Amino acid sequence: MNNISNDKLEEIKNKSDIVEVISSYIPLTKKGRNYFGLCPFHDDHSPSMSVSREKKIYNCFVCGAKGNVVNFVMNFENVNYIEALKILGDKCGIPLNINTYEKREDYSNFYKIYELSNKFYQNNLKTELGEEAVKYLEKRSINEDIIKEFKIGLALGYDKSLTKLLIKKGYKEQDLVDIGLSNKTDYGYQDLFLNRIMFPLWNIDGKIVGYSGRIYNTDKKVQAKYINTKETKIFTKGLNLYNYHRAKNEVRMSGQVIIMEGFMDCIRAYSVGIKNVVATMGTALTVEQATLIKKLSHNVILCFDGDSAGGKASYACGNELYKLGINPKVVRLESNLDPDEYILKYGEKKFKEKLDNAINFIDFKISYLKEGKNINDSVELSEYINSVVNEVKLIDDDVLRELTLKKVANEINISFETLMNKLWKSINDDEKKAIEELQEDNFNVDTNKKVYTPKKRKVINNEVDNKVISKYTKAENMILYYMLHNKDITYKYEKVFPYLPTKKNRFLAQEVMYFVKKYDTINISDFCKYLSDKPELMDLVGQILNHDYKKEYTDEEIKDYFKVIKEYNLNQEINRLQKEMKSVSDKETKLALANKIMNLKMGVCEDARN
Ligand code: UTP
Ligand code: MN
Repeated sequence: MNNISNDKLEEIKNKSDIVEVISSYIPLTKKGRNYFGLCPFHDDHSPSMSVSREKKIYNCFVCGAKGNVVNFVMNFENVNYIEALKILGDKCGIPLNINTYEKREDYSNFYKIYELSNKFYQNNLKTELGEEAVKYLEKRSINEDIIKEFKIGLALGYDKSLTKLLIKKGYKEQDLVDIGLSNKTDYGYQDLFLNRIMFPLWNIDGKIVGYSGRIYNTDKKVQAKYINTKETKIFTKGLNLYNYHRAKNEVRMSGQVIIMEGFMDCIRAYSVGIKNVVATMGTALTVEQATLIKKLSHNVILCFDGDSAGGKASYACGNELYKLGINPKVVRLESNLDPDEYILKYGEKKFKEKLDNAINFIDFKISYLKEGKNINDSVELSEYINSVVNEVKLIDDDVLRELTLKKVANEINISFETLMNKLWKSINDDEKKAIEELQEDNFNVDTNKKVYTPKKRKVINNEVDNKVISKYTKAENMILYYMLHNKDITYKYEKVFPYLPTKKNRFLAQEVMYFVKKYDTINISDFCKYLSDKPELMDLVGQILNHDYKKEYTDEEIKDYFKVIKEYNLNQEINRLQKEMKSVSDKETKLALANKIMNLKMGVCEDARN
């Protein structure tokens, strides 16, 4: 355990002077009481960011970036809460001498080896032996500037040229094998990459940690098109995104990030001035990668290959982002082209138009679900409708829900009411299933009165938009804030077990509860360490702790927060039932629903009286 007290974190936060800190990153000039500078979070041309020492906040009146000193460091350096406090601690002379991660080994030698190998590969391309490869690159419109910028090189056909060189420089053979540059064979140590054009892969800090080697003069059927470095101590595929280290700065300016599949697509886009791009390198997006994207921007465009695999990947990747609260946009390219081919064929102007006309994720999903389906066939049509209903169910916004269903209804010539009924029925089925589950779990569901306590509901159908700071969201934040500061509140939470409306918050509360039960204490730095494999929750901890709430509280206040949550859940349920009532025509069902609503309303009143 780290044993850094929460007080120490607080001390760093208090001691950090926002003007001093921000001016260590960007020049500030004083005007009146405030300081002004070019906002680093958008492409700013006149100083739009003001910094107030008294209020301890910064605020950009153009792009809306604002927050306290910790927010600034988190956003500027793309780090989490604890990391930001460590940086601030170093600045103001209160060092936090532990890392939030496990103590890191020193890999500087490995990075040096990669630097050397890259110089070697780059040089090969300039020799006579590299002529064919250069021709290949030229044919693909990859000119000298791009080769330089992306440090493209060549692995020769000889079996041990790189290995030999590195051993001569004093590096250990086994290290070369471990980091994926050499192979051990019966004939000794050999180069792993042979006769391939070498594209270096960078980690998110901009260090070369691997390669993707492409064939250029051999038969595709005989050899894999690309060979990538295996996972090593310094290279984990799922934690990296191609071009992330460059895109970091570009995204800050453009406020938007574009995700592509292949790194060749990335390179092409970059070469025509679209620099806020990263590539997944053809694999499914991991939570960590999604979190990295989210750190860059919430404004995301998916621009995958135009083939059906690209459609599938957009769907999967978009869903992964959606789980983290990002609503991406999607570009679909015609004739199975990938972005590289599209730009070469139609030019950058047309490609940029495509980006400007990216469609909403939900619209994409609806059309994706229809792809390849014959809606004149009743069975396929019904499958399509079911899949649409399942997607629409996940939409939080009532208006968007309705609009989407209307669009679909028009398209397939079915009445909107029919679709709406189907939606309600599906939601109702989910609820029923949930009640059954609750009964199986022996929760105290009172089936006689047909009322079940919403605080123990398991189904999520109404996530709260956490951008709107309602009193409910505030109550959630406060509960978590105090849970993170005081184990007693966590024990209280466990007893009352309120159903926090926001899923992320609920997960976090769960983790706090687990931690407190295990260690019988709560300490932010240890808790963050414990969370280090859940970056999205770690970010949430940062956001919650960054609220400058008062440290003291009364039991009465805590009780109130729990009550607010309970009331919220009851109201949600009442709303849902009221809507359902409007959509059913059967009198008996209507009456049953009215009864349910009345019972719930009594619950709200009772709570208000207590
Ligand atoms: P693509 O096949 O779409 O590659 O694979 P690409 O970007 O169009 O490449 P070119 O234009 O043919 O040169 C997308 C990504 O999948 C990975 C690579 O990282 C590539 O960028 N991939 C593909 C492999 O790792 N191995 C392969 O054999 C193929
Ligand atoms: Mn391609």
